[in-house]
Amino acid sequence: DAYDAGEHDSFMHKEMLEQPAAAERVLRGRLDERFGTAHLGGLNMDARETRAIRRVKILGCGSAYYVGQMGASLVEELARIPADAEAASEFRYRNPIIEPDTLYVAVSQSGETIDTLLAVQEIRRKGGRVIGLVNVVGSAIARECDGGIYLHAGPEVAVASTKALTNMFLGFALLALQLGRVRDLSIADGRRLIAGLQRLPGQIEEVLAQEDALAELAGRLAEAESLFFVGRVRGFPVAREGAQKFKEISYRHAEAYQTSELKHGPLALISPEVPTVAIVPEDELTDRNVGALHEIDARRGPLVVVTHDGVDLGGLAAERIVVPRNERELDPILLTVPLQLLAYHAALRLGHDIDKPRNLAKSVTVE
Ligand code: AGP
Repeated sequence: DAYDAGEHDSFMHKEMLEQPAAAERVLRGRLDERFGTAHLGGLNMDARETRAIRRVKILGCGSAYYVGQMGASLVEELARIPADAEAASEFRYRNPIIEPDTLYVAVSQSGETIDTLLAVQEIRRKGGRVIGLVNVVGSAIARECDGGIYLHAGPEVAVASTKALTNMFLGFALLALQLGRVRDLSIADGRRLIAGLQRLPGQIEEVLAQEDALAELAGRLAEAESLFFVGRVRGFPVAREGAQKFKEISYRHAEAYQTSELKHGPLALISPEVPTVAIVPEDELTDRNVGALHEIDARRGPLVVVTHDGVDLGGLAAERIVVPRNERELDPILLTVPLQLLAYHAALRLGHDIDKPRNLAKSVTVE
């Protein structure tokens, strides 16, 4: 029964472990290795319309908004189209300028989030084109959009979203690939990304296999009243999502920051009582990231670094969580999965209700 947590203590645990299979499903039948592209028939756009897009604007709430930020990076990196994400709850109140050559993307697990739905209606009222990245088939947002990509994550019951978010990321990767291949993205790069996408389900499995070590680490993090999650550029939405998950179910104060901004204020809060979880993939910014983390180390702030094997942390006194390497553009999702396990095990240690955290609903259908 898909609605039964089975041998798991919670739906969140079941849903985290379902991620490799869910990831396979969202990719299935949508990758074209021959032409190095993706096929997304549900977008309802022909090649001419796809080429005419000059900007991409992504709207979602909470974690869907943070994955939207990851999606905006994918679109900019692969398709070289200016893209950004905005909280759907804010969008309609600033009388947004709706442009005919902008592709609006609404992203939602439930497809029922009122703020995202009202943003879609506002865009359509003003003549904009909106597509949906939605998990629940036939939901209100899916019905209101001009087209879209179903996420095929399967039913998600836990308030803390996991497998749907992973599939949102993959949905954005498919979209970015398709937009990229009618522009400047080469066939070789398209194939490189397809190969990377095909490796992801197995690599997510590898991260999930680290659960015991992550549980032990989470037990220690759960003792802190307050934590930072930091990252830069591709790593910043990862940090935001990591902090979000941690606060939702552990009820600890978890604040996300750009690593580069620490010195402009929050460094004042670093102490041996305030741990920092830092996202440090091997990429163009590794050295700068490590440099900034030395500022934390010097103030005896405990550090957990989510990184790749062999990254030189320059003697930092840090605990390492190592995730597999993939194509750099796809790093964010592999960096996100261990943060789900940290939040889950911290909440478990603290004895909280994992699936139904206080004050929160699975989908927010009233303003
Ligand atoms: C995720 O863990 C949260 N429960 C929450 O931020 C959620 O992502 C948000 O409310 C959006 O929900 P949706 O994807 O169903 O629109």
